[in-house]
Formats: sequence, structure tokens, C-alpha cells
Amino acid sequence: MESTAIVQDYGSYLEEDHRTWASLMIRQNALDTDTISAEYLTGYKKLELDKKKIVRIDELSRRLENLSGWSLVPVTGLIPTKEFFYMLISKRYPVTISIRRPNEIDFSEQPDIFHDVCGHLPLLVNEKFTKFLSAYSIIALKYVNNDRAIDFLGRLYWYTYEMGIIREDGALKAYGGAVITSSEEILNLSRTEISKNPFDLGRIFKTPYNPYKLQSDYFFINSFDDLFECLEHLESQLIEQLLMPEEDLVLRNYSLNNNLGKGFNNVIGFLNDIQYQFPAAISFVAGQPDERFFNITHHMGKFDTYVRHVAKKTGDSWGTVINKIGQYNKTKGIVNDILSDYLRQDDNINIAPENILVTVGAQEAFSIIVSTICNREEDVILVEEPGYIGVSSFSKIFNYQIEGIHTDEEGLDLRDLRDKIIHCNRIGKKVKLLYVIPDYQNPSGSCMPIGNRLKLLELARKYNFLIIEDAVYNSFTYAQKKNPTLKSLDKYNRVIYVSSFSKSLFPGLRIGLIGAEQKIENDTGEVVSLVDEMVKVKAQITNNTSTISQAILGGTLLDLDCSLHSWCQPKFDSYRERRDKMIGALNRCIKNYQNEWAKGISWNEPDGGFFIKMSLPFEIDDQAVLEAAGKYNIIFCPMRVFYLKKGGENEIRLAFSNLSLNKIEIGVEQLAKFLRSRIVKDKGWAPAVAENGIATVE
Ligand SMILES: [Fe+2]
Repeated sequence: MESTAIVQDYGSYLEEDHRTWASLMIRQNALDTDTISAEYLTGYKKLELDKKKIVRIDELSRRLENLSGWSLVPVTGLIPTKEFFYMLISKRYPVTISIRRPNEIDFSEQPDIFHDVCGHLPLLVNEKFTKFLSAYSIIALKYVNNDRAIDFLGRLYWYTYEMGIIREDGALKAYGGAVITSSEEILNLSRTEISKNPFDLGRIFKTPYNPYKLQSDYFFINSFDDLFECLEHLESQLIEQLLMPEEDLVLRNYSLNNNLGKGFNNVIGFLNDIQYQFPAAISFVAGQPDERFFNITHHMGKFDTYVRHVAKKTGDSWGTVINKIGQYNKTKGIVNDILSDYLRQDDNINIAPENILVTVGAQEAFSIIVSTICNREEDVILVEEPGYIGVSSFSKIFNYQIEGIHTDEEGLDLRDLRDKIIHCNRIGKKVKLLYVIPDYQNPSGSCMPIGNRLKLLELARKYNFLIIEDAVYNSFTYAQKKNPTLKSLDKYNRVIYVSSFSKSLFPGLRIGLIGAEQKIENDTGEVVSLVDEMVKVKAQITNNTSTISQAILGGTLLDLDCSLHSWCQPKFDSYRERRDKMIGALNRCIKNYQNEWAKGISWNEPDGGFFIKMSLPFEIDDQAVLEAAGKYNIIFCPMRVFYLKKGGENEIRLAFSNLSLNKIEIGVEQLAKFLRSRIVKDKGWAPAVAENGIATVE
């Protein structure tokens, strides 16, 4: 059976190897009872290991045999599982003959003679522990051909003999060899954020580990009796575990929507990973509303306001109204009359309640509009480039055809729009929809002048397409006056109006709306209401938007006479203050120096919304984002995320909506340091100041 045992060729060790051993032993001998188990230290002393030279395994084996009856087998590395358990049953323990390289002194991925001898042999002098180890091996040998069983039993070995900790004198101390022989791992004992769980066989079986990382979970025993006692249930718990379904329930030979493969929104995932990896970094990525304004309990109380309103209007009892709200409900919505009033007051739009469809946020509105209007083969949807991904990502997943239209400071490039429409017509495609955010667009902050709005509406009439107007930031203006929405200027009835309450109230409400007044003559010559066709689609997607949320929104609006504008003013003021802080900080840290390094950097100063677009003299690739997060504690969003194929490589989006003034200030300072360092390096200029300075490099 013993195929891997070899001879320790002692003469083949170099002087350098002995020096490595000696320096490891200096560290080892400094370990004390504050962090290391007394049971382990007792065994360690009894072994009387050589401190200067690598131990001779045959000598040490004889000493150990006299102490506990266990002997040692020299091996070259990991040995087959079955052989390993056979060795343990016959009281023999394998010891690797090689020693780590000097550059691995703090951490060696592979076991070496230091790890095996100093990590594991001291416990082979401990009677209780060796009884556990032998009994464990007898059980393990019965399951050696069952990979899952060996995996579970391997976890027990890992969380005891390798990573075990024990409570002694009220403190948690290490007895596991991998903890004791790793100067990094041992620090985890005092890190309060790392879990130290009571020894629990069932939980250990369910806790996988990664031998190449510092552990995030440990299990502590109160004495070695705990280990011995667990043997009584070990096999029954192992069988119980094996009878449970495999953890890996992956469906194989199966596929999902092909459009969801690699590359779909991978930049968003990448940015999330970075935020997770560098939690302390200030993030200009998320364009979220500030949750300090959510006031959710206040809004929840408005549910009652809505119920009272309906009870008074219908004469129904309180209970009847509530039960009706709880029931399946009208697909079109239950608060359409209130929303119609709200749109007239706040957005200067007259839409009858029957032409409003209440949706689950704006995103559902986009998916309903596209699915109701477009056919995959012949129709094309136009989107802004750069543009918000709501329509384009949905279209990509469901194979609708999309084309990008160039945008600049004034929003859509109307010449490019016309050219694309003509091109589509020429190749036999029909442009059916254009998706646009006319005000303070996400991601670029661009805003369409009124002249362009009117021209766009004429183009829609001339080329017979409909416009999805996403009015999400229309109210979030920092100028004197709001811009007129496309819908309010729409004398040709070409605009489908989409709005949501995620920014003005809170995203968790999940309420958006479609305002569509179009009548359409369909293929059979029948004239149908567009919104009623959309209702058919929504009925198949979500049936109806949460009526509880609708009631909360309805009550909130009723209490404010169906206008949010004045009530939201403190929010608008606060976002304006942040925009000002951001622009001020950018001017101070980058522009005002008029430094040579900063000359290729520019940004816009939007009069509303949550975003600023910055153009840079170099490309922002993943490496640059990582460097900014890791070295400069700042995360931003590469603009290329918002392009369909190529574009935006030299641009970033900076969101300021959910950061405190202080964080905006610090974040911009960090951003300036990152930009300066990158530009100075790219140009091959010698930095004139220290890495973290920004003031004097020209
Ligand atoms: Fe080990």
C-alpha cells in the first residue's frame, strides 16, 4: 500500500534551506499561551525540535514513537486519500521532506516540512486528539470511494487539525497546524469581524473552505473531549448529509436566452465587484436618489388617506375598500384619476385617466411599450448614444433591433437621427420608436433646447415614428424654470410619456406610468387605443401594479392636492447644492490650476439631473477603474457602458446625487490625483511633487 514513502536525503538540503528552517523556528518559538493552545505547546516542547537545522525525520520519528506510539513517514507532497487514512489507522503520519523557498517564508501554498512538523506533530503527543484522529480515519476509510463523503470529512479535518481553535482560560487559541504555522492566519484570532462558531458537526459539513485564502469561518472546541464525543454521531451525521441532495444542483446540457451570455452588462457587474472589493472607496457610480429624503413611514401612513378617500367617494365601508385593494385589480391601475390631476398640475400635461397605464416603475413601462409596438424582424428602435440602458438592454435580451443616435450637449443629434431613419427605410426596416430623455439625460446630463424639441416632434410626424419620452429628470431642474416636456409640446400626438416616482418619492414604491393617447389603425383596418393594447401586454407580464403601492402613492398625492412640486422643493435644493459642490470642487482641483496636465480634461455643468459627463485625454479601461479604486479610493462609471457597441472610451459619468457634500469634495480631490498621475505617466513627465500632491505639476 505504501507507495509514496521515500527516504529523506538529508545531505541534499542547502545551507539556504537550513537558514529558512532556522528563521521559521525563531518565529515558532516566540508563540506563547496568549494565542496558542496549552495542549499544543505541551506537545511542542516534548518534541524537542532542532532550532537551527531541518529536523531528521527518522530521529524525530523515534522520539515521537517513544512519546505516543506514532511514527513518521517521509513523503514528497500530497498523498492519495486512501493511503493517507491507512497511515493514520496504523499510527503513522506523513511528513513532507521539502522546505519552502525563502520568498515563501510568510505563506507557502503547499505543505512543507515546517508545516507538517510544527503544525501537526505536537498534537500527535496528545492522547485525546490521537484517539479522535484514529477513529476519524477508520470511519473515513469506509467512505474513501465516495467523493462527497470525503469532501465532508475533509471539512472536519480542515476545521480541526488545520484550522482548529480551542477555548482555554476564557480565550480562543489555536491548535490547528495551518493557523499556527501562518503568521497571517493567526491574526484572524483577534479579528472580531471573522466568525468563530461553536463546534458543530452539521455546520462544519455545510461549510466549504478555500485553502488558498485566509479563512472567514472558524469552529472552536471547549476541550479535546468535544472532538472525541463527536465521533459517536460522526457516521450517522455523515450518512444524513449524504442522503441530502447534492449542493451542486446545476442543470447541465441546458441553455438560457443566448443574449444573456458573457458581455451582457458585464461592466455593471465589474463596477459592483469593485465597490465590494474596495468598500471604503467613494463612489460616483450610482445615480441613486438620496435615501435621507425617503421618509417611508410617512408615506405608508397615506395608505389610510387613500382608503378614506375611496370610502367617501363610493360609499363603501372601510373594510370593503381595503378588501378590494387586496384583490386582483384593474390592469390599467386604480389611481389613474389622481395621476391625471398630478400630471396636469406638475407636468403641464393633460392626459385623461383612461389613457394612463400604471406600471411597475419606468422599466416595466419600457418593456410594455416595446413589446406592444415592435416586431422583431422588421422594426427598429432608436436610442440615444450614450443613453440610459433601460430600453436598449430589454431590447437586446428579447432580440428587438436597436440603433444608436449620436448625442451631444444639446441631446440628440437630429441630423444623425434623420440619416439613420432614411438608412433604415432604405434597407427595408421601419423605425417605430425613439427613446429619449430630453432633460438632464442619464448618463451625459445633456439637455435638449426647445427648438430641437419642436424639430424632433416634426421629424416624428414626417417619418411616422413614436417617441418614448422618459421625463425622469424633468422636475429635477436647478435653473429658474422647468423645460417644457416633449409631451406638452406634442401637437402631432407622437409622444408616449413615461414617468416614475422613484426619484421624487422613493424607488421601493415601484410605480411608474405611461401616458399614451394615440389611436392606431391596425393591420385589419380596425382603430384601437394604444394604451388598451398595452394593457393586454401588461396583463401577461404583471397583471397589475401593486395596489398597496398605488394606494400609498394615491394617498400621498391626495394629501398634497395632487402636486409634488412644492413638497419636493427641499430635495431639489439639496441636489442643486450637491451639483454646485461638485462643479466647484472640479474647478478648484482641476480647472483652476490651469495645469498642463489638466488641459485635456473637460466636463459639462448640467442645469439639472444627477450626472456630469467628463472627457479625458486617455482611455478608461478596466485596469484604470481598478487603479482608481485601489490606489485613489475613488470609483466612477466608464461611459462606454452606455454605448451599444463602441464609444465613450475617453469619457466617464460622475453621479453626485447620493453623496454628502464632504464626500463629493474628497471624491473630487481623489479623482484629480488619479487623473494627474495617469496623465503625467502617459506623457512621460517627471512628477514634480509627491505621488499624492496635485498642485505643482505642470
Ligand atoms: Fe496540514
